[in-house]
Amino acid sequence: MDQRIKRADLKVGMYVLSYGLGTFESPLVQVNKPLLSPRCIQTLLPASAEDIRIDPAINIGLLGQERPVGVPITTSLSDELPIAKRLYGEALTHVRGFVDDVRKGKDIDYREAEPLVDNFIESVFRNETASATLFKLRWFDEYTYTHSINVSILAIILGKHLDMDKPTLHKLGIAGLYHDAGKARIPEAILNKPGKLTEQEFQVMKSHPLEGYKLMQGQPGLDPEILRAVVEHHERFDGTGYPRGLRHDDIGRFSRIISVVDVYDALTSRRVYKDPIPPAKALGMMYQWRDRDFTPQAIENFIRCMGVYPVGSLVRLSSGEYGIVASANSLRPTKPEVKVVLDAKKRPQLPRVLDLEALENTPEAVDIEEVLNPAALKIDLERFFFA
Ligand SMILES: [Fe+2]
Repeated sequence: MDQRIKRADLKVGMYVLSYGLGTFESPLVQVNKPLLSPRCIQTLLPASAEDIRIDPAINIGLLGQERPVGVPITTSLSDELPIAKRLYGEALTHVRGFVDDVRKGKDIDYREAEPLVDNFIESVFRNETASATLFKLRWFDEYTYTHSINVSILAIILGKHLDMDKPTLHKLGIAGLYHDAGKARIPEAILNKPGKLTEQEFQVMKSHPLEGYKLMQGQPGLDPEILRAVVEHHERFDGTGYPRGLRHDDIGRFSRIISVVDVYDALTSRRVYKDPIPPAKALGMMYQWRDRDFTPQAIENFIRCMGVYPVGSLVRLSSGEYGIVASANSLRPTKPEVKVVLDAKKRPQLPRVLDLEALENTPEAVDIEEVLNPAALKIDLERFFFA
């Protein structure tokens, strides 16, 4: 579905599909990009553009209009970050342990992870930016183990924004930590294969939700919602997922949350066969897959909670300077706080934090022009985060 719109009526956040120049020689120009700033209108669409078509179903600018439930920050980022990092290290030891146990055929007990998950919940309630920042800095890079922890923390962050209470977040965090437990029963040659899986290997890989279910099923006191998330996290909204091809609301509440954060972490992680996709781009891709892969509400809530530009994203501003997104703005996802660290010639400068929303309509107003890949620019984000 597309909709024609006049150039004068374009607004930041709209998704432009194409335009024509109104001449025989100029065919339809495909744009397929959201308008991230007023200047984008100038750069993406020449003044002669006619017959501008947008996708009315996509508008990242509108995502922030509902206020998510928030909890005041009680600890500063610099105080919480070392705690979050220590908790992450402890979680890594735990996950390594249970993956090894499964591979050796030993029983596992999810109750051992309960204090860990509670500590994550408390950290997220004190200052969720600290945990969110860990993803961007990627201090730990063993995907097999880090993925489970990332999914657990991201699910807790999303659940908190959905106003879940702590006992529910506890179950959700456990579901995140164990959602891929069945992968420990998949041969490592398939699990870590650098190239594309053969059809037969893919079938083996697809057995992991059911294998996880078998591993978790007999455990005393395990909540059925957790079990559902383990077996359903690869089900997709339109029924194309596995193992059962469930659709819409037949997919459990926890399963829908875990599937969103699972895909996000997979896209934004480095793997042997792919570079990480920048968070903002990953969210944009996932937004386009709503209705197909995810409950639309689930992905919209996730973008609201992460911000269109997740914390830690490296961005170029309309002033030409470079900065790092320092905190998300859930009401106005396109207007986060940005810590400016490099001038237009990429020379370090004394860091200063700009609140893009507060500066709007002032002479100092700046917008985000572009999200950049720090690795491609050889920029060490961590150095600036603590500057
Ligand atoms: Fe999985």
